[in-house]
Amino acid sequence: SQNIYILGIESSCDDTAASVIHNGNILSNVIANQKIHEAYGGVVPELASRAHQQNIVPVVHQALEKANIKKEELHAIAFTRGPGLMGSLLVGTSFAKSLAYGLNIPLIDVNHMQGHILAHFINEEGYSKPPFPFLAMTISGGHTQIVRVDNYFDMTVIGETIDDAVGEAFDKSGKILGLGYPAGPEIDKRAKLGNPKAFKFTKPKVDGLNFSFSGLKTAILYFIQKETKANPNFIEENINDICASIQYTIIGVLIDKLKKASKETGINHIAIGGGVSANSGIRQALKDGEKKFGWTTYIPKFEFTTDNAAMIAIVGYLKFLDKDFAQKNIAASARLKF
Ligand code: KG4
Ligand code: ZN
Repeated sequence: SQNIYILGIESSCDDTAASVIHNGNILSNVIANQKIHEAYGGVVPELASRAHQQNIVPVVHQALEKANIKKEELHAIAFTRGPGLMGSLLVGTSFAKSLAYGLNIPLIDVNHMQGHILAHFINEEGYSKPPFPFLAMTISGGHTQIVRVDNYFDMTVIGETIDDAVGEAFDKSGKILGLGYPAGPEIDKRAKLGNPKAFKFTKPKVDGLNFSFSGLKTAILYFIQKETKANPNFIEENINDICASIQYTIIGVLIDKLKKASKETGINHIAIGGGVSANSGIRQALKDGEKKFGWTTYIPKFEFTTDNAAMIAIVGYLKFLDKDFAQKNIAASARLKF
């Protein structure tokens, strides 16, 4: 008898996204990327909110059209409440509230980071969902966390970055090398052609399960300054090796902490989410962990790892089953915690 349609809306950073889910199945997953930020080498918050304002109605319209349903058939509207950029969140939040109010259906608030984790519960042919408890490492341009997941909404952050996110480490290193924004995919591409042991960067030392990436960025900057002083063509001549070495260092840090987390909790089901989990090196390192450390790993489809609204819609569906709805006066929250 269960036949639930939920619209998910995501606008926390620079992607405007909407998705329709039918029970656990994604019917549409539409994303409008904001190319405008590339010229600035990073997301400009003011420009992001303006672009969301332009994109949100067309994107939602497309999501409904692709799912082949009318808005009157929706059972609830789920939206990203936070964390993220306030101006960006306000666009999605206000739109979701108005639409839910107009249609007289429930509104469901979603934590973006929980979305990255619960994306693993989207029905996908040939994809097995992680069993509870599992460890989820969320690695993106805004966050770096290891989360112990005991149930859908019983999650505990057991480690996180004390400064830069891992995606920032990729993006800022890429900026030093003169690569475009976001630099993560560019570094990944070049790393495949380079020697990961060509250059050695010291891994940051941080206690427990926490991370720190700001020192690495500085180390890379000093290294490049020193080398280009001796040889102005150093970057061009060594770009693949530099990228491979940076990526190797970052992956080493992530895997070390995962090993530690797995050992301390006794949990060896490991899932990843967030934009950086698209990285081919981290995917390979996790797969290797299956043989090396006895892990079972869960790596979602590419389109569900970077920012998207399908992950917001699946959380909406799970909360809908719990009748966990938002109040009409709910507000966006830039620093929303679990
Ligand atoms: O999850 P996401 O789309 O947005 C945030 O919530 O931040 O993640 C974007 C981040 C950027 O820092 C981007 O450089 C990084 O994910 N990224 C990658 C790769 N693809 C995206 N980093 C390394 N390798 C990749 N293949
Ligand atoms: Zn994200």
